[in-house]
Amino acid sequence: MTTTTASSAPERGPRRTRPAPRWWERPWIAPLALFSLVFLLYSVPPYLALDPARARLPVPDHPSWYFTALVTHIFGGTLLTLLVIVQVWPWVRRRYPAVHRWSGRAYVLAGVPFVGVPALLIAPYSGSGAGGQVSNTVWAVLWLSFTVAGYVMARRRRFAAHREWMLRSFALVFGIAFNRVLLIVLILVMLPRVDTVYGGDVDAMGLALGPASGFLSWIIPLLAVEWWLKYRRPRRRVPRSA
Ligand code: HEM
Repeated sequence: MTTTTASSAPERGPRRTRPAPRWWERPWIAPLALFSLVFLLYSVPPYLALDPARARLPVPDHPSWYFTALVTHIFGGTLLTLLVIVQVWPWVRRRYPAVHRWSGRAYVLAGVPFVGVPALLIAPYSGSGAGGQVSNTVWAVLWLSFTVAGYVMARRRRFAAHREWMLRSFALVFGIAFNRVLLIVLILVMLPRVDTVYGGDVDAMGLALGPASGFLSWIIPLLAVEWWLKYRRPRRRVPRSA
């Protein structure tokens, strides 16, 4: 992973002189927000009753703290998903920089103990087998590392490096929602071969595809961010008044 412009010299704070982009210059923000909200409305309600029987994944009896950690992770993850929308919304960043700073602090200070650490604790107990357990563990370690790196860079006022690490961190948060879509796509791709490969057992096919979609769901958004950082870095704008 490269930190393309994470120069060693301290960088100046964000430039305030650039005009806020118009909404059509950021056409992704509304679909991203909508997709994230649909994901939350679908994924979170089963856990509101705090009943392990209603969980969407198998809840092991041991360790006894598993369900508490899972629910903490999910409620924290809900907050994180909403904060990511606020953080990547250029209009909020430029118009209300204080909101950006405070929601950024909340993202790190709530995300590390209530989302990243519980994710790391439950990752080895995934019912999707060794592949899923490894994928989930690497995902959690990377999220924690990127988030802490982004926070440290902001404290050191190295804002270009801060931005890069936080974009990587946001990409990994997005992975959970992307996973839902990806699993459906993989199932649709493999469905014509369910008889030949899985003996007609659709559940077995879903289980087998789980680790693959798990890996791809955080690797693809991460690669997309790396591509964006390398090739699509926003160029300096000419002020509209000019
Ligand atoms: C930040 C990076 C994240 C990591 C590393 C992570 C990791 C994990 C892990 C390891 C599991 C257990 C999966 C299994 O046992 O197979 C899990 C489950 C879950 N996570 Fe996350 N997660 C992240 C972000 C989020 C976010 C932002 C949400 C939003 C609410 C979320 C919601 C859930 C839900 C709902 C489950 C239960 C599975 C289900 O109901 O389908 N996660 N996550």
